[in-house]
Amino acid sequence: MSAKRRVGVLISGRGSNLQALIDAAKAPDYPADLVLVISNVPGVQGLDRAEAAGIPTSTVNHRDFPSREAFEAALDEALGAAGVDLLCNAGFMRLLTEGFVSRWLDRHLNIHPSLLPAFKGLDTHARVLRSGARITGCTVHFVRAAMDDGPIVGQAAVPVLEGDTEEALAARVLAAEHRLYPHALRLVASGQVAVDGERVAGIPVRPDESNGADAPEGRGESALFSPPLRGNF
Ligand code: GRF
Repeated sequence: MSAKRRVGVLISGRGSNLQALIDAAKAPDYPADLVLVISNVPGVQGLDRAEAAGIPTSTVNHRDFPSREAFEAALDEALGAAGVDLLCNAGFMRLLTEGFVSRWLDRHLNIHPSLLPAFKGLDTHARVLRSGARITGCTVHFVRAAMDDGPIVGQAAVPVLEGDTEEALAARVLAAEHRLYPHALRLVASGQVAVDGERVAGIPVRPDESNGADAPEGRGESALFSPPLRGNF
């Protein structure tokens, strides 16, 4: 088996998606090791989760730097020192400059709680509810300089239910995020998919063969319209 990818994770808060990646990476056949977690916010729960898992952490507080570029240079330094070669944003709440994005081009993933390109940006679930959309979900994509933009690795669809509150919908989508992100990282880290002309190419997408088949029973299930994964996720 080829060497595992050395993954760094950027967080700003709770870190539940980070936890999903930590848990997935415990599997011996998982093609990625989490080697560094960086938070731009001191003292957040995600740092505790990383420490509990024995993963090195660093806090790089954007407020300590005079410019975005200086902040990002500090990120790059920490990532380089840890030998990170694949980067995952997991609830990381800073916009990154074109320079940083180009240095990590096609080696940098983000998760967003909507079916992109719909509902980019903040307050996603409130806007979904106001819109009357009946289906929402989450997306893992390669990072580009524009916010919540870039080639899509995978998506999970989640129903919007009658009477949903923002909190109820957010919780249902978050459960799908926790299934999607480890799956998407596995596909990228194993080289099963890659960016080709601003789209993700790999195994053709056939939803009837996708991992939706093992979705949990009930109303919160998600279908993963991603290239089918070989093995478990
Ligand atoms: C998730 O909904 C993620 O999609 C969004 O911010 C939230 C972060 O949650 N970008 P957590 O920190 O992973 O718990």
